[in-house]
This record gives sequence, C-alpha cells and structure tokens, in this order.
Amino acid sequence: MNENVTVFSHPLIKHKISQLRDETCKTKEFRALVEEISMLMGYEVLRDLEMEEIEIKTPMETTTAPIIKGKKLALVPILRAGLGMTGGILSLVPSAKVGHVGMYRDEETLEPKEYYCKLPEGIDQRMILIVDPMLATGGSADAAVQFVKKKGGKQIKFVSIIAAPEGVKRLSEAHPDIQIYCGEIDRGLNENGYILPGLGDAGDRIFGTK
Ligand code: URA
Repeated sequence: MNENVTVFSHPLIKHKISQLRDETCKTKEFRALVEEISMLMGYEVLRDLEMEEIEIKTPMETTTAPIIKGKKLALVPILRAGLGMTGGILSLVPSAKVGHVGMYRDEETLEPKEYYCKLPEGIDQRMILIVDPMLATGGSADAAVQFVKKKGGKQIKFVSIIAAPEGVKRLSEAHPDIQIYCGEIDRGLNENGYILPGLGDAGDRIFGTK
C-alpha cells in the first residue's frame, strides 16, 4: 500500500461501517452513521493541524498555551454524497469554511466534468479536506483534486468511508502529494462502477432518494 494511503483500524469506525452496509439500515440511521464515522475519521485526519502558542491569562497566572494556527480548515464535499460527511467534521471544527465541488459524467468521454465549484478565500493557506463517502473509480476524486489544485490548494487530504482498490490506485498515482484516508478498502468495482460489497448508492441512502 502507498505510504500516502491510511486505512483506519479503529473498532468504532469498522463497526459503524458494517452497520452502514446493511441494506435494512434506514435513511435516518444511515445519515447519523455517516456523520459519526466522518467525525471519528476527522479526529484522526486533523492530527497534523499546525499549532501556535498564544499567551493566556488564567484566573491563576499568565501562561502560554497552544491553539490551531492561522487560517484553518477548508472542507470540500463532492456533491452530492460528500454533503453527508460535512456535519460530523464541522462538529469538530465549527469554524471551518466549506467549499463545494459538483461533477457530472460527460456522456461521450465518460469522464467527470465540474458543473459547480466554489472554494473559500485563502485556499492556498488552508488544510483542505475533500470528502466523498465512496472512492469508486477515482474519476471524480481525481477531477476534484485537480480543480482544488488549480485554485491554489496545496495541503490536500482526501477522505472517504469506503474505497475500491481501483480508485485508491488512480488517485494516489495521479496525486502522490496528497494524503488519502479510507475507512475500508473493498474488493473492487462492478461493471457499473459500484463498489463491491460496498453499500449501494451513498447519495441515495443519505438523502432517501432512489
Ligand atoms: N458511488 C456510490 O454511491 N456507491 C458506489 O458503490 C460507487 C460510487
């Protein structure tokens, strides 16, 4: 495995992903689980946020204490399923700015094209978490990272709940300078680009659509 790829081994993350996979898991529970898993993963992903020392006056004396430095986090969900992951991470970093990247698949080339992209100011100075629960073929992920880089993004991490080996390979080879985090890496893709065993269509299950 590429050293830029981290697969989580925490029992809570594993357990909750297994609950997500179950086809009887209903929208309300599914949504809550996606938030909880994203929060647990986010806690670890944010381990290397840069810190600085500031002076603080406690009721006892003046001291120095660490806080998160400078421009903070930019969270960038890939529309639409990535939206399900924002709440959990924002519960850890409520002041994070949120950008959005929307993609559609070009009917001729079958490659993703962006239809909506808006990022927070100062993107070149922020740690950026691009989030999408499913890293399948890696096409949208690759395109989203390219877009964020074009806008000046430098410190980029890609966070997914379930990944396919094909997607991890494509993304890590296209962008060896980013960190990739996955809750699980599954067996592979079917002929329609769905992850097996996976959990089905994450967007439909988060939003209760079909
Ligand atoms: N997107 C999904 O929502 N599910 C998959 O299995 C693959 C891509």
